[in-house]
Amino acid sequence: MYFLLKFVVYAFVVGVVASLTIEERDEANWGGDNASSDTSITNFTIEFEDEVVKDLLYRINNRRKLTPPLKDSAFTYGFNSDQLPDWMNYWANTYNFAERVQYLNQYTHYKTYVQGLGIHFLRVTPEVSSDVEVVPLLLLHGWPGSVREFYDAIPLLTAVSSDRDFAVEVIAPSLPGFGFSDATSIQGLGATEMATVFKNFMKQLGYNQFYVQGGDWGGFIGSMIATLYPDVVLGYHTNFAIAISPLSFATWFAGAVSPSLVADTSVQDRLYPLLTTLPWMMRETGYLHLQSTKPDTLGPAMESPTGMLSYILQLFSMSSRRENVDKTDGGLDLFTKEQLLDNLMIYWITNSFTTSSRLYAETFNTRNLLEGIWATPTSVPTWTAHTKHEMIYMSPAMLKSKFTNLINSTIFDDYGHFFAFEQPDEYSNEVLNAISAFRDYRAKSDTCQLI
Ligand SMILES: *[C@@H]1O[C@H](CO)[C@@H](O)[C@H](O)[C@H]1NC(C)=O
Ligand SMILES: *[C@@H]1O[C@H](CO)[C@@H](O)[C@H](O)[C@H]1NC(C)=O
Ligand SMILES: *[C@@H]1O[C@H](CO)[C@@H](O)[C@H](O)[C@H]1NC(C)=O
Repeated sequence: MYFLLKFVVYAFVVGVVASLTIEERDEANWGGDNASSDTSITNFTIEFEDEVVKDLLYRINNRRKLTPPLKDSAFTYGFNSDQLPDWMNYWANTYNFAERVQYLNQYTHYKTYVQGLGIHFLRVTPEVSSDVEVVPLLLLHGWPGSVREFYDAIPLLTAVSSDRDFAVEVIAPSLPGFGFSDATSIQGLGATEMATVFKNFMKQLGYNQFYVQGGDWGGFIGSMIATLYPDVVLGYHTNFAIAISPLSFATWFAGAVSPSLVADTSVQDRLYPLLTTLPWMMRETGYLHLQSTKPDTLGPAMESPTGMLSYILQLFSMSSRRENVDKTDGGLDLFTKEQLLDNLMIYWITNSFTTSSRLYAETFNTRNLLEGIWATPTSVPTWTAHTKHEMIYMSPAMLKSKFTNLINSTIFDDYGHFFAFEQPDEYSNEVLNAISAFRDYRAKSDTCQLI
């Protein structure tokens, strides 16, 4: 209901670009003036250039005096400014730029052009013996995240185990407009268009079929790849399972009268009472409204590192635990400062706050509402993971109209929105279980077809 409401509101605000046919999606060139048709793959190295670091330190050290927070307000009015000096001092004086950039470069990074646009990615291939099959997994991050979210999970996902007859090759790109991938200069590159970019990206790398995993925007884009190109997706796993369809929201609403029709008793409190869940969403998702309508107004404010840190880290706080809003430190110690600052550095050095925020405006608009792709069902085998503090919970009853082959939904009684970042062990275990199940499912349905 909430998303429908937002779509309706945005319908009058943005989204003047016409929708594309499936052929036009493939042919779209998002490169603009800098378009390149060079599809070769080149190595890429992240650099924290001296000039950029010097400039960052200057801005941190010359920040204006902050407005004190209201008494005992914790994070309820936003990032508590009493916490900011420590964060800014840590970033300037303790965060070890030289070490961190080395850390970020521990995996081999690559760049190639897809539909005219430079796409940056990590690719980690396990070394296996001949009886083990290597299967490709496209890992998609979201906003305000980056490929950094997957750093601790990658060795676990790509580990070779005698328990499995397969090993996973991870391909983790930066979304267009995020981090080291190029931003487009053309209107209309939303989540569904990115789905085509990544289908073509995988094809260029030599994969006609692959598994997809993602949370946040990565979950949406993955869902769109599964919807537009069901034949290329061997299985779709997401820790942000949302079906943006009238039926799914109607089901949610109907459940307000009779929750047990919609969800198991153990998870009903993730949906109801609506008088708790909907106001919570309204209160905590102002960023979404702003970025869906005026990302370019917001962007320039982020040339202050203090501003960008408080804006982005407040969202890490909010989306990780419901109770964080009442904690003086926002509960950010769920992550190390290095984890959070590495991710911020990716936004900072690439100056990608504005371009990444535009994804909201390019997706939540009339064009997307009218296209109906969001609500179009997909038969791709799907497995969903639901952490306790995820911003929205959708039960199998709500998801099945979209994901007709929903083979499993794992309920976690803890954890938040940044599942891979926060719990790489649980996350990797979950994703590997899902891939095993997708393989079994396909083996079974192939046998059925033979019979
Ligand atoms: C094209 O690339 C140049 C150099 O990287 C960059 O400065 C410029 O902003 C880009 N133009 C567009 C339209 O993206
Ligand atoms: C690219 O990186 C790979 C892996 O580190 C390395 O083997 C290869 O030599 C590099 N290629 C170039 C052109 O530097
Ligand atoms: C669904 O997931 C749970 C938890 O990971 C697992 O115990 C169960 O076997 C799975 N079911 C199927 C059909 O794979």
